[in-house]
Amino acid sequence: MGFFDVVVIGAGAAGMMCAATAGQRGRSVLIVDHAEAPGKKIRISGGGRCNFTNIHTSSQSFLSQNPKFAISALRRYRPADFIALVERYGIAYHEKTLGQLFCDGSAQQVIDMLLDEMKAAGVRLELGVGVEAIEPSANGYALRLPDGPVTCTSLVIATGGKSIPKMGATGFAYQVAAQFGVPVVEPRPGLVPLTFEPGMLERLRPLAGVSLDATVSHGKTAFQEGLLFTHRGLSGPSILQISSYWREGNAVAIDLAPQADIAQWLVEARARNGKQSVLNAIAELLPRRVAELVVAQAGVSGNLADLGRKGMDAIVAAISDWRVKPVGTEGYRTAEVTLGGIDTAALSSTDMQVKAVPGLYFIGEAVDVTGWLGGYNFQWAWASGKASGLAA
Ligand code: FDA
Repeated sequence: MGFFDVVVIGAGAAGMMCAATAGQRGRSVLIVDHAEAPGKKIRISGGGRCNFTNIHTSSQSFLSQNPKFAISALRRYRPADFIALVERYGIAYHEKTLGQLFCDGSAQQVIDMLLDEMKAAGVRLELGVGVEAIEPSANGYALRLPDGPVTCTSLVIATGGKSIPKMGATGFAYQVAAQFGVPVVEPRPGLVPLTFEPGMLERLRPLAGVSLDATVSHGKTAFQEGLLFTHRGLSGPSILQISSYWREGNAVAIDLAPQADIAQWLVEARARNGKQSVLNAIAELLPRRVAELVVAQAGVSGNLADLGRKGMDAIVAAISDWRVKPVGTEGYRTAEVTLGGIDTAALSSTDMQVKAVPGLYFIGEAVDVTGWLGGYNFQWAWASGKASGLAA
């Protein structure tokens, strides 16, 4: 296929943004992907509607060993910039909640937009192409592809993380990093449901399908969003968010009724009707099956009038400070993202280039920058793609 100024490996969110940007600068660009279609994760994202950004994006919504690394790229390509692009293409969108912007129609519109941007910029896209080898060459890099060798000055690795191997996710970026001596922060699944030991699962199973608004915390980090009981354990946005902070061996604290002062509420409920059973009273506040779990956890029964100080405290703890110790996560099979990745200490925060290896760039989810749930991860993909595309 010959020589290109820039070769991008991985036609996902970050890779396509990078390729289009470099092409717009007049660089000759080839983008390759081993999948048969580009942007597969964009297509399934946001339940098929792609939560393409979050208007509240700041570096505080990202996890990284160096939390300051993302600031530069995020400042230079903001949610407003991507929104302007989306609007230029006439893609209708709406804010669902908490600053999360979704397409009104389909995520495919975002993919088509990026494909159009690349086409207009003269980018060559090759799908179903795996990279067999990468070698440094006189002026850059030589790649062995199934159809023959390609050389380039700049090589951008945009192959994402390990999440959802069924969709073509690989550890390719980490292999390239190892080849060029670039350090990697150990990858682990993030934004992923938590799993429990058999005894706890047995207690949770009858609640499968129940959801409610909860605050889930780990140390000083807390998220108030939906919580969903499942056959495998706990899921829902609040659990996915905290999973990125949770470490094996630790417990998470769950407040099942974050809007209520339970001690005060119990006193008032007792004053209103002391003959009401504790279960029926709690079932007025929480879904009945959750109320059943709460009274079992608290070890209380009988009427509100019979509830002593100890019983009250036990209920308050079971509702407002329910401590659960996950045994693990559902892993890369269902994780929305991969935490860790290319160590940012090795990269320039301005353009994502490896400081010690000129012309080699890592962008997107492959890098040790991981966002919260809610459009932050795509905003990082766009911003890091843009930063590299302006330099490569
Ligand atoms: P991405 O994974 O998108 O792309 C990597 C590309 O590299 C893929 O096309 C892959 O085929 C290719 N590739 C991998 N290995 C290769 C190899 N060896 N050779 C060649 N090509 C290779 N985020 C968000 O902000 N809002 C949302 O709504 C959602 N929703 C969501 C739903 C689900 C189910 C998942 C799994 C994830 C999300 N995310 C999300 C996260 C978001 O999808 C993710 O952070 C970005 O897609 C990351 O973009 P990248 O371009 O870095 O990797």
